Amino acid sequence: MFPRGRKLLLGVAGGISAYKSCDLLRRLQEQGFVVDVVPTSASLNFVGKATWEALSGRKVLTDLWSEVESVPHISMAKANDLIIIAPATADLIAKLASGRADDLLTNIVLASTAPKILVPAMHTEMWLNSATVENVEILRKRGFVVIDPDEGRMTGSDVGVGRYPETGRIITEIDKVSVQTADLIGKKILITAGGTREPIDPIRFIGNRSSGKQGFALAMAAASRGAQVHLVIANSDLPNIDGITTTVCETAEEMAAILNLEFPHCDALIMSAAVADAKVLNYSEGKIRKEALDKVELAKNPDILKSLAQIKRSGQVVVGFAAETFTSLDALQKSGHEKLSSKNLDLIYVNDVSDGAIFGQEKTKGIIIDKFSNVIKVPEISKDTLADILLDQLVHKLG
Ligand code: C5P
Repeated sequence: MFPRGRKLLLGVAGGISAYKSCDLLRRLQEQGFVVDVVPTSASLNFVGKATWEALSGRKVLTDLWSEVESVPHISMAKANDLIIIAPATADLIAKLASGRADDLLTNIVLASTAPKILVPAMHTEMWLNSATVENVEILRKRGFVVIDPDEGRMTGSDVGVGRYPETGRIITEIDKVSVQTADLIGKKILITAGGTREPIDPIRFIGNRSSGKQGFALAMAAASRGAQVHLVIANSDLPNIDGITTTVCETAEEMAAILNLEFPHCDALIMSAAVADAKVLNYSEGKIRKEALDKVELAKNPDILKSLAQIKRSGQVVVGFAAETFTSLDALQKSGHEKLSSKNLDLIYVNDVSDGAIFGQEKTKGIIIDKFSNVIKVPEISKDTLADILLDQLVHKLG
């Protein structure tokens, strides 16, 4: 079974068996993949864009010249964990073998470091032609997985090798490749997201602007790399992620209670939630009158991350986040170092959230520091990309 939430790009080239990829798409979705379809313009003669959009439930781009501002060939190359091209025609195979990139699909393939699987389907003569045979050899040497076609009836009355394989065989091959690249299989990862709220009275609370987006991105990415994820959410409006165990809480104390129970069983804790530093001592059952608001007394909340990191067992990895409002990178880095060592963390991500940056946004920017003082300066990137960079570091620390 695949880890849920893995992103897969399904390229469709211009062969009559393109219609069989509609079934493949469905089977991939059932296996938990989120599938982006990229049809070549020739393939649209066989299956139209509307079919792919309806089946995938996602927008489908068919050329290099749409949505140029988001540089889709690069963003799609980065976003996908796996590329499968089915059917792969003789022409597409030749283009890939010679490193050409003259449409959206071939640009994505050239820009992607993800594993690539080709499902050739063509007439026997074309498959056995020495040009195709040599091109397939070149691609296999470069690491492409090329699935041998089935033997049987072709489009016309002729019979031979070259048929689009049974979907089950393609799924088995994808399964093999997918498992090889899922580097968190067998790991239990506890992730917090959102921001805690400390009630003052039934109407008011002390809270913060954390949306939960980074924690959700981490949970998705970890699950897609095979981890068993438990996401502890404090006050986020984001929808639950299919296949991920989720517990919700409101206050820091509730979060601490959940984490105290779960921490001993996990391999890693990623504390991306913004935890309120103070709670209200004299919570009022009724709404506090304006004039009495200055009677509200605060007490410090427990530092959950610090207390758990003190009791971590050997091999367990603890990752913290810190939102700061320093304007200089040096100050941000210094504070990151201090928090990392005072809280006994393995890794910390510090970010400057001044002027409404990062909290609630799609993008982030900051510094990753580990306990050996290795520093990675992260330019403005999506929270999904940061999740993958942090998980690469985590995999390294987990050994
Ligand atoms: O010290 P600071 O609040 O900046 O540290 C941020 C990190 O500590 C975050 O990972 C946050 O989840 C965690 N934290 C905590 N308990 C608190 C405050 C922060 O676990 N009371």
